[in-house]
Amino acid sequence: MSTFDINLHETIYSLSNALDLVGITHIRHGKRVAFIATECGKYLNWSGQCKDDLFEAAILHDIGVAKTVIHSRLAQFEWEEESEHCRVGAALLQSSPLLEKLAPMVLHHHTHWSELKDMALPMEIKLIANCIYLADRVDMLSLSSQIDNSNLLLFKDEIREKILEKRGDFFCDSLVESFMSVSRPEAFWFSLENEHVDGYSDTWLSETPVQKIDFQDLRSIMLIFSCVVDAKSPFTKSHSDGVARLARFIGSLWNLPQERCEMLELAGLLHDIGKLRLPDALLEKPGKLTPEEKAQIKRHSFDTYNILKNIKGMEKISEWAAQHHERMDGSGYPYHLDQNRISLEARIVAVSDVFQALAQKRPYRDPLSPDEIMKILKEQVEDGKLDRDVVHCVDLQLHACWKIAISAQQA
Ligand SMILES: [Fe+2]
Ligand SMILES: [Fe+2]
Ligand SMILES: [Fe+2]
Repeated sequence: MSTFDINLHETIYSLSNALDLVGITHIRHGKRVAFIATECGKYLNWSGQCKDDLFEAAILHDIGVAKTVIHSRLAQFEWEEESEHCRVGAALLQSSPLLEKLAPMVLHHHTHWSELKDMALPMEIKLIANCIYLADRVDMLSLSSQIDNSNLLLFKDEIREKILEKRGDFFCDSLVESFMSVSRPEAFWFSLENEHVDGYSDTWLSETPVQKIDFQDLRSIMLIFSCVVDAKSPFTKSHSDGVARLARFIGSLWNLPQERCEMLELAGLLHDIGKLRLPDALLEKPGKLTPEEKAQIKRHSFDTYNILKNIKGMEKISEWAAQHHERMDGSGYPYHLDQNRISLEARIVAVSDVFQALAQKRPYRDPLSPDEIMKILKEQVEDGKLDRDVVHCVDLQLHACWKIAISAQQA
């Protein structure tokens, strides 16, 4: 198994950019919550480790939200079944050895302090969860001013008043006190503007060292984000995992070195991460897409690149993932690369993507059999779309490929 030299914070942060896109209009929510929460933690003199956990949990706190429809509900102060996205998020984080410590913090980021304070959990976890809750509600209350771009300062007193009212009930006394202090200066509110929030996170990233991360640990983080993407539609459940496994398998049939095969697997997991920006209804639409909808779809692989490009050590993986809709004759998107410029790995991801999608049910058709899939793949080769040699390689192991492509769904 290979190890990758990766800055873990940079990875979490970049992938959290994708979560932020689910908001469509209310982007950077995770980052603003991280800023507000960390300022409170600093005021309370929390330890470096505690502030680090707080920041990580805060940028990932809404990881249980994949659907744009749910995201729109987050703007209400309280709503029915709000704990559902907390449970989903915590369960996702639990699956990764490097992120599982954040699970209880995310689980309780909507739990009232009056209830949370007596729970059998370490005090540090309770305080971090409640701090995120408070910061989250502050950002929600400031939402109206961010949408019409009016000056947030005009809402400052109203927001502070609302938080103060919930002292002891929703939020822990000491956290409310810290928030009241840090939010007194105008600078605090100006810092919530986009460029300042980005700058705040940059500092956090630059303080984190690159570390050696095992492939399996890295995969478990990528899998979480792929699950979030695939959860946007019941039809795409485990699609990315299937593409990842298949891409790796094809890489091994090609005798690529193990590290390349593992990189192919990661590219497969992340290839559609840019889809988080798309409205759910578009992904589930049974009929023909309008030209405007097609244009929206076409930006997802471009967004995949933008989300991944800043993770140092993952440059190749981002490229392969972003090129999964490029076609041999140059008719693909978003770059219109042709066979002279599409790498072997990107061709493998493209074939794996088409294969897995055909093996899975879609709103407009049932899953196809291995033979039906191969017929379509060969047609696409003749049409100048898919790589002939990669498809030939799949043909030689058709049944094995089919089993791998659907294995993730059945797991
Ligand atoms: Fe939130
Ligand atoms: Fe795609
Ligand atoms: Fe895909």
